Amino acid sequence: MPTHISTLVINEEEAAQIRALLDEISSDPRNLDQFHFVEHSHVLAQELPRRVRAAFYGFNRSETSSALHVTGNPVLADGPGPTPTDYPEERPGYLLNDAQLLHGLYGSLLGEPISFTSQRKGSIFTTITPLPRLSQVANSSSGSMFDFGFHIEDAFHPTRAEFIGLTCMRNDEQAATTVSCVDGIELTEEELDALFEPQFDIGHNPIHATSGVIEEDRLSVLFGPRERPYVRINFATLELEKYDGVPRTALEKLRQHFEDNRVELMLKTGDCVYIDNFRCAHARDAFEPLPAGRSRWLSRVVFATDLRKSRQLRQNTVARAIAA
Ligand SMILES: [Fe+2]
Repeated sequence: MPTHISTLVINEEEAAQIRALLDEISSDPRNLDQFHFVEHSHVLAQELPRRVRAAFYGFNRSETSSALHVTGNPVLADGPGPTPTDYPEERPGYLLNDAQLLHGLYGSLLGEPISFTSQRKGSIFTTITPLPRLSQVANSSSGSMFDFGFHIEDAFHPTRAEFIGLTCMRNDEQAATTVSCVDGIELTEEELDALFEPQFDIGHNPIHATSGVIEEDRLSVLFGPRERPYVRINFATLELEKYDGVPRTALEKLRQHFEDNRVELMLKTGDCVYIDNFRCAHARDAFEPLPAGRSRWLSRVVFATDLRKSRQLRQNTVARAIAA
């Protein structure tokens, strides 16, 4: 099976060590501000248990797992509080909870947290929850009524992150996060050529209010090593009917490959997952959300292995919001 999700279960001793670290971090109120915290999370993450750090390093380095699912995290002892009914990260004074702090620490073992100017005012942590006013938007993280098709996070963007991380505050609807890996795709030489050719319009999801600085058209779907390619696709916005012949067949085979190799992950409160955003697409099926305040609630951060590759698109060296 090309899609393989590794699970890291935090043991009792590790949980105590992680809890002590989180308590120390939380004791400085400045750390609850996301922009302050992410400037320190990389260094603080070195105090996570060694087995945890090794698991993240191995996941990043070996490129054999599709995702790393971390469970048994010592967070949200008093519950997550009510699910937001909007995007609290867009307001001044937004504070992180302990699940988000740990999410930032774990992700910092993989790379640098980044954001986009086109998304939630450049917030690094983004709230994923069904919003009634957006329930009928098909390819929105705030939707629910329709399937959210297979996509690479921020597929349209040349400096998109290598990893997408999600931490779960609440998922009583048991809505699955679906992951599928491009590994093992079977294509003819002509089909491979077609997908490596910059001839596809990738498109962005409605979470981005783009300014037009990024060229989203005439991009290749596959890139990197031909014998084991990386992928950039957004089936949620792709207009398949725009293509015919070999490119169309190749796109259909890719979509079928993702369908055939899909693995459903059921996140529960306190869980984190990190998905390889170069090798794996993710999706979410339609679901019936619980009433406001109790509905599914995830917090997303994307992590890039290299900040310098996006320097030209960031206002200054320390900025993390990438122009889009
Ligand atoms: Fe996504």
